[in-house]
Amino acid sequence: MAEDGTGGGEQRLADLLRGQARACADLGSPLYAHLLTRAADDVLAGGPVRAVLAGHEDDPPGSALPLRLLGAAHRLALSGDAPGYAAHLPSTGGDGDAPAAWAALRDLLTERAGEVRAGLRTAPQTNEVGRSAALLGALLTAVAQVRPTLGPVVPVRLCEVGCSAGLNLLLDRFRYRGDDGRVRGPEDSPVELDGAWRAEPPGWPEPGAVRVVERVGGDPDVVDPASVDGALLLRSYVWADQPHRAARLEAALDLARRVPVERRRVGAAELLAGLDLRDGTLTVVQHSVVWQYLPDGEREAAEQRLAQLGGAATPAAPLARVRLEPGGGDAGAFDRGETGYPVSVTTWPGGHRRVVGTAPPHGVPVRWDARV
Ligand SMILES: C[S@@+](CC[C@H](N)C(=O)[O-])C[C@H]1O[C@@H](n2cnc3c(N)ncnc32)[C@H](O)[C@@H]1O
Repeated sequence: MAEDGTGGGEQRLADLLRGQARACADLGSPLYAHLLTRAADDVLAGGPVRAVLAGHEDDPPGSALPLRLLGAAHRLALSGDAPGYAAHLPSTGGDGDAPAAWAALRDLLTERAGEVRAGLRTAPQTNEVGRSAALLGALLTAVAQVRPTLGPVVPVRLCEVGCSAGLNLLLDRFRYRGDDGRVRGPEDSPVELDGAWRAEPPGWPEPGAVRVVERVGGDPDVVDPASVDGALLLRSYVWADQPHRAARLEAALDLARRVPVERRRVGAAELLAGLDLRDGTLTVVQHSVVWQYLPDGEREAAEQRLAQLGGAATPAAPLARVRLEPGGGDAGAFDRGETGYPVSVTTWPGGHRRVVGTAPPHGVPVRWDARV
């Protein structure tokens, strides 16, 4: 038993919920901050949250249990199966009354415990389009570097580890508006990221320098964005009081129905094992908020495969790795609650890694390093 008389498991769960509550408050979701704070109290009081989370006491913090919990409940509300809770969520047209939402969530967890518990099983499918702002900037840095060899318009093969529904594989099809007023991306894109970054760093190539010739993503829980269930799953992980994120997800779902993306149901190691390099193209491995979910052995295998591919890269067949990860992929960074994630790019031949900026967990706004 812990000193306060509760089991150590309860305290761990409460700490996890409180940590995520703080992150939600910092990232503009007062509703989820309130729900998670009350959920932490409920765990210590032995209420329905405690019952629903039984057996998850030792889940690693990086597996984002609090977001899995709220995602599962949100899914029931979005699908019309939890009208009492939906009545208080802005995402379902509700009033946004946080104390009333908590009372309704508590009832839901009591009445539908089995369904919510089933919903905890998978990693959050937060396919956050805002992260494309960070990934695109890192990609442009790599493109600038290979242009002298591959020519002014660089053919790019994109390969995304942990792609969820593959929405960030459409990063060249989105429109980005920086705080300096400069705009990148197709004029007719349905996805607009306003305030994507503070200002363009010097050295990015002009728009049109990138021609994506292949888009392949892998994820053990890959999501079909064109299916009703897939879209519901993605919507459920958008925090219920963040309409701007919900809107960009809807726009990206629209685009995803029109742009071909190859989605494979494979983990990181298997996806990378099947990757090769091609003459005349820049092969890009991208990943965001994925590394913390990889089992240790798979993370090592993925790193080794990347090093092996890097060793085989040539000026005519270069490789780049672009990433937005807590601590750059250090699995402990998420656990420590770090909310400024480095944006980095590594290019081969050479294997030189550069941190080119910093971004919040949902990607925007990116602060570029002036030295890029
Ligand atoms: C928080 S989501 C991020 C999704 C996407 N990368 C983004 O930034 O929008 C984490 C993703 O990691 C995936 N994942 C979990 N285990 C994995 C593994 N072993 N290999 C590859 N992806 C994995 C999950 O299925 C999920 O899609």
